[in-house]
Amino acid sequence: MSISDSTILSVQDVSISYLAHRGKVRAVSRVSFDLHQGESLALIGESGCGKSTLNLGIIRLLPKTGRIDQGKILYTTRDGRVVDVLGLSEREMREFRWAECAMVFQAALNSLNPVIRVRDMVYDTAQAHGRHDRVQIRKRMLELFRRVRLDPERVFNAYPHELSGGMRQRVLLALGVLLNPQVVILDEPTTAVDILTQRTILEVLRELRAAMGFSIIFISHDLSIAAEMADTVATMYAGEIVEIGPVEELFYRPRHAYTLGLLEAVPKLSVGAQELVSIPGSPPDLIEPPPGCKFHPRCPFVTERCRREPPPLVEEAPGHRVACFESARVLAHSQPVR
Ligand SMILES: Nc1ncnc2c1ncn2[C@@H]1O[C@H](COP(=O)(O)OP(=O)(O)OP(=O)(O)O)[C@@H](O)[C@H]1O
Ligand SMILES: [Mg+2]
Repeated sequence: MSISDSTILSVQDVSISYLAHRGKVRAVSRVSFDLHQGESLALIGESGCGKSTLNLGIIRLLPKTGRIDQGKILYTTRDGRVVDVLGLSEREMREFRWAECAMVFQAALNSLNPVIRVRDMVYDTAQAHGRHDRVQIRKRMLELFRRVRLDPERVFNAYPHELSGGMRQRVLLALGVLLNPQVVILDEPTTAVDILTQRTILEVLRELRAAMGFSIIFISHDLSIAAEMADTVATMYAGEIVEIGPVEELFYRPRHAYTLGLLEAVPKLSVGAQELVSIPGSPPDLIEPPPGCKFHPRCPFVTERCRREPPPLVEEAPGHRVACFESARVLAHSQPVR
């Protein structure tokens, strides 16, 4: 199994599908990327493009109807061993999900059991993972609560309903990193909270990351948050990564028409009440996606070739890969001569 030196997580040619009444939903198609030590990767793309499915696949928490059809997921442990995540036993997986690669869920606000105090949830979780030293766990948890700017004693003994949404989100973040994981996956950690709470969550996340040095996979619908939090951004469309690269590259020199469309759909404060340009049409059916480039029916740069042939993901600038035959035109469009 090969994996480069600083790579913590290597996702190689992974496809995931769900079995539905109508047929096989191809939710993730042949996705590959490497996550490096300390790197923060943002996944962007419209609702239903496969962001959550990809992450659930990585930690093998897909619902029963979900299946990893192909590909490899390799992970480098702290002591330098490379493990094949898809080959781990259920027991090894439980350890992996907390001690190595922790996930903080979308809409996690409701995932706290209302009749269980925070401390008991912490102890229960620890116990389920074979950690029985309560004194040690309590000490570490209180320290992390302080780090995420919570009043440690009060929160530790509280019931979830006594905490605000933002506080609960921070509780889950602190609990997620209790065992010092190398990777933290955050699925829309800031949706369903107000903008000030959002700021606090991002700040504590940044501080935690600086202190603990974990890598991040971050899903957000908010491009300004992605721009702020990410080193690398990947655009997903209809289950595929269509563009991936360093954050400034992707946001200032997009080469895929879909990334360009997402960026143009963001209202800009500076231009006032200008009409919002959005991408016409809607994402394709993932049971029978269109041939060629899946984005072609919505693409303003479409050619005959795009309708026939699926474009491969090609590196066009250092670290910047794109799956588009017309990337040069897209780039020229995104870089108007001033
Ligand atoms: N349990 C399921 N059974 C069948 N299809 C599913 C299931 N879960 C998700 N899907 C489908 O898989 C595709 C990818 O969904 P996924 O939830 O991964 O998207 P997403 O990018 O996370 O969307 P969002 O931004 O809304 O969270 C969608 O077409 C969705 O309808
Ligand atoms: Mg999702």
